[in-house]
Amino acid sequence: MNNFQYKNPTKILFGKGQIENIATEIPENAKVLMLFGGGSIKKNGVYEQVSKALSAFEVVEFGGIPANPEYEVLMEALDIIKAENITFLLAVGGGSVIDGTKFLASAALYEGEEPWDILAKNKRTFIGMPFGTVLTLPATGSEMNSGAVITRAETKEKFAMGGPGLFPQFSVLDPEVVKSIPQRQIENGLADAFTHVLEQYMTYSVDAKLQDRLAESVMQTLIEIAPAILKNTSDYKAASNFMWSCTMALNGLIQQGVPSDWAIHMMGHELTALYGIDHARTLAIIAESHYKVNFEDKKEKLAQYAERVWNVNEGTLEEKALAGIKKTTEFYHSLGIDTKLSDYTKNYKGTAEIISKRFEERGWKGIGERGKVTPELVEKIVEMSY
Ligand code: NZQ
Ligand code: ZN
Repeated sequence: MNNFQYKNPTKILFGKGQIENIATEIPENAKVLMLFGGGSIKKNGVYEQVSKALSAFEVVEFGGIPANPEYEVLMEALDIIKAENITFLLAVGGGSVIDGTKFLASAALYEGEEPWDILAKNKRTFIGMPFGTVLTLPATGSEMNSGAVITRAETKEKFAMGGPGLFPQFSVLDPEVVKSIPQRQIENGLADAFTHVLEQYMTYSVDAKLQDRLAESVMQTLIEIAPAILKNTSDYKAASNFMWSCTMALNGLIQQGVPSDWAIHMMGHELTALYGIDHARTLAIIAESHYKVNFEDKKEKLAQYAERVWNVNEGTLEEKALAGIKKTTEFYHSLGIDTKLSDYTKNYKGTAEIISKRFEERGWKGIGERGKVTPELVEKIVEMSY
């Protein structure tokens, strides 16, 4: 097992009726900016619950944060934070609203000239404005981690940011919010969380037995509850397991002491930036080709995954590893998710070259757990996923 230091300061308030408890988590006399997305919270009762819980505070609202949170929109919110002397941020939404809020928590205290540099120049955030979240969509794990991903439509770029100053102070995980989530977003949430585990697991063994078992159990739980939550979003038991699995998939715990990959996400983010494809779907597009191209480096873990997660007990190590890749693609399909780029855009030709050139220009010479996935290999992987 590799060395690690681990601290996750986010307090979780899990379960029915927990939204009303946010008042005791926000500092007295705080001036709160409540941030939300395109309006789903106004239709499903979440807005009323949050407003009621905040009745003792001075609250300013900022709605309209789009999926794949957009830099220009967030800059409008930044002006409000400064003009209104906001002291606490409250994100009410999915990964996009939470990520946008993390960007604001960082940008509000940023001393450089152009907040975009936090993303483009990869500036880590050690101190951010305090914020909490009310999660409305299980998927990203953003409610209990310190990362964010922000888009700039103008330049078709999507960059990650983060740092120890960007953990939420608290997050409310009320599975009842799952009821109103559209089918497509449920599919996305399952696929995104599953792939988060893969990115932290499908590398090479460092004999970290517990981390492997934890990762496998998150994947097994997602596989087990997927049919139930796809069938009925009002199934509270399934929603609870869905929600906590998504959080556990990316709150840092399973990543400690083990190598992680994240190449699928890095390539996937480009597909969202270029074509606007839903984040989770870009991962489903890339995963199979990535594992095929990097088969030699990953085959031991692929075989272990096939055995333990999918009960593949026949065949050689290579055959089991290949079965693991096939099972993964079949899992995405079982969620209703297409796994080829051409299923999403007709203009896919040349995508591989564009992405590999971008990686080259950014100096991303080798990604993945061994730093071996060069821009040339990125080109090959993306092309194989057409
Ligand atoms: O905007 P509203 O009207 O709220 O509608 C949203 C949005 O259209 C809707 N929705 C959310 N909760 C709902 C609901 N509709 C009905 N009922 C509810 N309870 O769902 C749509 C999608 O929301 P979004 O927040 O965009 O989805 P998700 O949570 O999947 O977030 C995706 C973003 O997170 C980033 C992605 O790149 C993408 O930008 N990621 C963030 C990560 C992190 N911070 O750790 C890691 C991930 O790998 C990912 O990259
Ligand atoms: Zn993801």
